[in-house]
Amino acid sequence: MGPQTHTLTVVDVVIVESAQIDAATRLGLRTLWDRAFGDRFSDDDAEHAYGGVHVLTRDGDRLISHASAVPRRIKFGEQQWRTAGYVEAVATDPERQGEGMGRRTMDKLQGEISSRWPVALLSTGRATGFYELLGWEKWRGLSYTQTTSGVVPDGDHGGLMILRLDPSVVPDLSVGVTCEDRPGDAW
Ligand SMILES: CC(C)(COP(=O)(O)OP(=O)(O)OC[C@H]1O[C@@H](n2cnc3c(N)ncnc32)[C@H](O)[C@@H]1OP(=O)(O)O)[C@@H](O)C(=O)NCCC(=O)NCCS
Repeated sequence: MGPQTHTLTVVDVVIVESAQIDAATRLGLRTLWDRAFGDRFSDDDAEHAYGGVHVLTRDGDRLISHASAVPRRIKFGEQQWRTAGYVEAVATDPERQGEGMGRRTMDKLQGEISSRWPVALLSTGRATGFYELLGWEKWRGLSYTQTTSGVVPDGDHGGLMILRLDPSVVPDLSVGVTCEDRPGDAW
């Protein structure tokens, strides 16, 4: 397929809350995530994407890109626990990658994040460079998970990144950062 196959359709970028997403769209999203991530994407990963705000990018009736952000309790260094945005399930359909759809989708999501939270976090395996272009910074400190039996160090967690809408909230990226445990990957 060449680019000329989609020149007649209109790309639509919409913001929706999780509660507004119907069953058919949920199925479409799972298909998109499975196509983009392959077998790296679990049922827990899908669950993690809900409970906040989504940006859905469609070309005609085809879902081509997604990103969402959910509130999570996070502890930076010795600060009190605070609510931060946590970005999940960022994906562009493999047939449409490299066309700027991921950037458009994340730009729109970051607008929503900035009106809700002073900072956001995410964990990525391979897309660090993609997020750096969007203003994200690599976390430089250690990371931990608060479990029912205490605080557990995560070991080497190279893919944690932060978006600082208000840098004064988290001035030092080399302190420890802790999240609450959840089913599946904690971060
Ligand atoms: C990562 C992903 C969402 C990017 O989506 P996309 O629609 O192809 O991205 P865009 O076309 O908007 O790219 C925007 C910019 O990021 C760059 N970029 C894209 N993917 C990148 C990556 N993995 N590493 C570094 N840079 C990347 C592009 O070159 C482009 O740069 P430019 O503006 O200088 O040309 C997409 O490749 C994907 O779905 N990957 C599989 C799932 C995944 O890994 N998701 C993120 C993990 S949390």
